[in-house]
Amino acid sequence: MPESTKVIVRNAREQDIPAVVEIDTEAFSSEGSAEKLATFQRRLIAFPNGFVILVAGNEIAAYGCSEKRLEEGEHGVGNIPGQTHQPDGRLFRITALAVRKDLQRRGYGSLVLDRLIETAHLEGCRRVVVETAQAQEFFVKRGFQTVQERTQRSVSLDDMSLDLKSINLIP
Ligand SMILES: CC(C)(COP(=O)(O)OP(=O)(O)OC[C@H]1O[C@@H](n2cnc3c(N)ncnc32)[C@H](O)[C@@H]1OP(=O)(O)O)[C@@H](O)C(=O)NCCC(=O)NCCS
Repeated sequence: MPESTKVIVRNAREQDIPAVVEIDTEAFSSEGSAEKLATFQRRLIAFPNGFVILVAGNEIAAYGCSEKRLEEGEHGVGNIPGQTHQPDGRLFRITALAVRKDLQRRGYGSLVLDRLIETAHLEGCRRVVVETAQAQEFFVKRGFQTVQERTQRSVSLDDMSLDLKSINLIP
């Protein structure tokens, strides 16, 4: 892609989801955690502000999606069992973030992550969390720390966390 390629990060729309599924499958099927189209549709309906895509030129090159959860000890209104996104929650969980393989290492993942961190802040969240098998260094560069290491379905995962109070979001 040429140096002058126009790059924008915007909220995802229903029609973007097939491209998101393609990127997700490429990124996560080897570790058994790729998601179905219906899962992304549900996430978009539940929390549209927390679902973003990056368009480079005319192509969708990356996406990031998220949900709000209640922190331990936090009592929110509308805490429905089985419902993962909780609008009153103050824990911002990145459910997935990926960049098309052939377009990685161009700063696109960082642009998506920065947008999600900004959204978390605007949504009044205190902490951003993510679990990752492969991208610890990427998150460490944005200030995340590993809080727990564990193994799930034979894949070793880091639970990582960023305290929003510890970073300055105003340039
Ligand atoms: C992790 C991922 C989103 C990074 O996106 P990207 O566009 O390639 O990353 P960037 O170009 O913005 O890189 C930002 C920094 O992180 C570093 N980085 C990126 N991916 C890295 C990796 N896999 N390992 C080590 N460092 C990495 C880059 O070197 C860069 O550092 P710099 O600013 O000092 O040059 C991308 O590699 C990806 O889609 N991976 C597969 C899916 C995944 O693991 N997602 C995260 C868990 S949900």
